Amino acid sequence: MKIRIDSEAPAPREAGWLVVGMFEDQPEPPSWLSETPGAELVRRLIASRDLSGGFGEASALHDLLGPSSGSTLVVGLGPSDRFGAAEAFDFGVLVGKRLGGRSRDSVGLVLPEVGPKAPEVASAIVQGVMVGTSGPGLAKSEPSRFAFEELRLCVPPGSSPEPGPIEQSLERAQILGRAINLARELVNLPPARKNPSLLADRIRTEAGQADLTVTIWDEARIRRERFGGLLGVSAGSDEPPAFVALEWLGAADPQAPALALVGKGITFDSGGLSLKPSASMEDMKADMSGAAIVTAAMTAIARLELPVNVRAFLPLAENMTGGRAMKLGDVLTMRNGKTVEVMNTDAEGRLILADALSYAAEQEPARIIDLATLTGSCMVALGPKVAGLFSNDQATADSVRSAAEAVGERVWPLPMDADFRESLKSPVADLKNVGSKWGGASIAGKFLEEFVGGRPWAHLDIAGPAWADSDSSTRDAGGTGCFVRTLVRLAEAGAGA
Ligand code: BES
Ligand code: MN
Ligand code: ZN
Repeated sequence: MKIRIDSEAPAPREAGWLVVGMFEDQPEPPSWLSETPGAELVRRLIASRDLSGGFGEASALHDLLGPSSGSTLVVGLGPSDRFGAAEAFDFGVLVGKRLGGRSRDSVGLVLPEVGPKAPEVASAIVQGVMVGTSGPGLAKSEPSRFAFEELRLCVPPGSSPEPGPIEQSLERAQILGRAINLARELVNLPPARKNPSLLADRIRTEAGQADLTVTIWDEARIRRERFGGLLGVSAGSDEPPAFVALEWLGAADPQAPALALVGKGITFDSGGLSLKPSASMEDMKADMSGAAIVTAAMTAIARLELPVNVRAFLPLAENMTGGRAMKLGDVLTMRNGKTVEVMNTDAEGRLILADALSYAAEQEPARIIDLATLTGSCMVALGPKVAGLFSNDQATADSVRSAAEAVGERVWPLPMDADFRESLKSPVADLKNVGSKWGGASIAGKFLEEFVGGRPWAHLDIAGPAWADSDSSTRDAGGTGCFVRTLVRLAEAGAGA
């Protein structure tokens, strides 16, 4: 998608689309319609409450400026004081979904007047349009979504958004939009097309194109490196595990402490011998969302050439029920030497993360952030759209929270008090992999904490927000690509900031 800034007065074009937002508290025809009959029509629709400016309301009006003058999509933006990055992104997705059903040469979009937030808002809109024009229908015989050939961002003359800073934000916006779509695509792939070896190959290709350094370990290497958790989980699958490390050394000093990112990469979670019921398995191809999101964020960090050192660690495995599957009561020895009694093979994410976190901690990073579709219990606590935030360090938790807030993604802190560790005691090993049924997301957090070697660390449980069960006007069903923006923002703040 080409993007052009247009500082002429916007006008619908013949057979073309012009998108214009309307705030709920400013229900009036756009000023560029001035005293045309179109303005009168919009005024009547406002008076009859057919146009209210309520968020997500979208109305197509044709020939506002006379015969064959093109079509206008009026989109409600909600209250102007609540319009931020999240709303702008959703606005963009809505536009992309609404108009992306067929190929279009050029779509105009009048940027809302939001004062100093303009570059941030323009960037979020562009990312949203890229996401909205790219659908989940990877395996459809006919394409069902088309990127716009060109997006014309109209900055009306004399309006408050200045074209200069907006222009500067656009390259970054396109890098981010592409990264979010990569995360979505990887999550939406069928499990047979992304078993650990295939996914590692795909990550190698994507990371290589972005100039990241890629290292992939095969099963033999994983065994030599004593990754007992990753081996235990993959034992029940015919597909061998893989471990991927990505590196971006952008800081002036390549030795400077790095940010470490860890992503859960279960390419399908059947539950193992603690088998899931069929309905709970339906979306378990998405159990590699953490790895997909971290990969995508790394490609963006590299393309943006951020002046920071970042290392990513991605354990990939399939959780299956084969004849060699780990059994309840089996004891695994993790990379850091701690032993874990497996009491539920469906609590597999923490087992592969244990090795990856231990290994990440050995590299002495400034901070470790992991993302994992870890527990249904986190969704019980926070609902399907908010990630749980767990940490052993207030400053790290704060930085994740403020990065998420800045880009409009939703996280909420959950407790890590010492007593959540108690139910993980095992009679035979250092700990077991499941505890009491209450507070499961926090118990999982306490399990992971055992493997970070006391380093500053935060864990995002993205079981809810990584996946959308159903289609809506501002979201496609399937992988969401959540937290790519947050991770990039975090890296922009610096490895230890
Ligand atoms: N991948 C699941 C968590 C999950 C559930 C993600 C629903 C997305 C939607 C994870 O491996 C799992 O099975 N967790 C168990 C843990 C339990 C056995 C302690 C769970 O949440 O039931
Ligand atoms: Mn599981
Ligand atoms: Zn899982």
